[in-house]
Amino acid sequence: MLTGGFRSHAAMAEAVTSGSVDLVGLARPITHDPTFPHRLLTDPATHSAAPTPKVGHKLLDDLLNSSWHQQQLARLGRGAGTRPARCPPTALLLALLTTLRDALLYS
Ligand SMILES: Cc1cc2nc3c(=O)[nH]c(=O)nc-3n(C[C@H](O)[C@H](O)[C@H](O)COP(=O)(O)O)c2cc1C
Repeated sequence: MLTGGFRSHAAMAEAVTSGSVDLVGLARPITHDPTFPHRLLTDPATHSAAPTPKVGHKLLDDLLNSSWHQQQLARLGRGAGTRPARCPPTALLLALLTTLRDALLYS
C-alpha cells in the first residue's frame, strides 16, 4: 500500500497494474473533494486539484499544509461543504490560534 502524491487515475492504475502496489491511499485529494474517489471510478480522466497552500516560509508552510486540509475535514465533520478557496494566511492564522487554545486548555 502506498499513500502520497497520487492525483490521477492513470498514475493510480499504473501503480496497481504494474504490481508495485496492491492498494493506493489518498489523503489531501479527499479533504479537498470528498467526491474524488467516486469521480475516479466513473471518469478515468479525473484529476485532483488538491492544493499545497504556501505562505513562503518552510516551517509555517509545513504547518499550513496539514492545517489547511484538517480545516476542510473539520468542515465536513460539521456537515458543511469543503471550502477549496480558503485563503492560506487565514488557514494559517486559524491553525496558530487553535494550537494556542489547545495548548492552554490541555497542558
Ligand atoms: C489532514 C491530514 C491528516 C493527516 N494525519 C496523518 C496522521 O495522523 N498520520 C500519518 O502518518 N499521516 C497523516 N497524514 C499524511 C497522509 O496520510 C499522507 O501520507 C500525506 O498527506 C500524503 O498523501 P496525499 O498526497 O494523498 O495527501 C495526514 C494528512 C492530512 C492531509
